[in-house]
Amino acid sequence: MEFADLFSLLEARKSCRSFQSEVPLKSEEIKMIIKAGQQAPNPLNQQPWSFVVITADETKKKLRQAGEKAKQTVLDKGGPGWVGGFSVDFMEEAPLVIAVLVDPRKGGLGDYFNQPVGSIQAGSACLQNMMLAATTLGFGTLWFTFFDPAEVRPILAVPDNLEVAGLLYVGKAAGEVPSSRRRESIIYADSFGVDFY
Ligand SMILES: Cc1cc2nc3c(=O)[nH]c(=O)nc-3n(C[C@H](O)[C@H](O)[C@H](O)COP(=O)(O)O)c2cc1C
Repeated sequence: MEFADLFSLLEARKSCRSFQSEVPLKSEEIKMIIKAGQQAPNPLNQQPWSFVVITADETKKKLRQAGEKAKQTVLDKGGPGWVGGFSVDFMEEAPLVIAVLVDPRKGGLGDYFNQPVGSIQAGSACLQNMMLAATTLGFGTLWFTFFDPAEVRPILAVPDNLEVAGLLYVGKAAGEVPSSRRRESIIYADSFGVDFY
């Protein structure tokens, strides 16, 4: 799939929650998506990320169980009722999941200013690049964080020194992916609260 410009690519990227499980990604496509992720900006160029490429049904099933458990936790803690009806079938349908792991010790100098978020910010930029690359290649994506990291870590054998920045579900979309509405931008001029024209 080709896009005339970045703006049409940005419009085409939508969160996809239904995949065609029978259409796998080629290993070349997976590498292109990960390479795009690695081109993301990151503090001090420490490149805090590493990736776990998941295609095994058994692993996807365990992740899905973690997703189901997370739903129950939210409900047990009085969270929004709609969570009960939120289907996580896609967690087994998607042909590919890429876990993006980050090393919190590679977050640049933010620690000195009470901003220990550099590695997660880098992981986020990385995930966004991957989503745009996958969109360009004609795949749907979902950035997924609806899980207790303590449940997901053992499934993927994540070492203690790394954090899970997100799970990226990737595959051919099954049907039309709905668009999410965006509200008006909130923009101020020079300081917060001053109208921008
Ligand atoms: C950090 C982050 C975490 C997210 N976690 C989830 C998730 O766990 N489950 C899910 O269905 N969508 C998740 N999303 C997707 C958002 O729901 C989605 O981006 C938003 O509703 C806007 O829709 P759009 O991506 O189609 O524009 C996440 C997005 C981000 C950036």
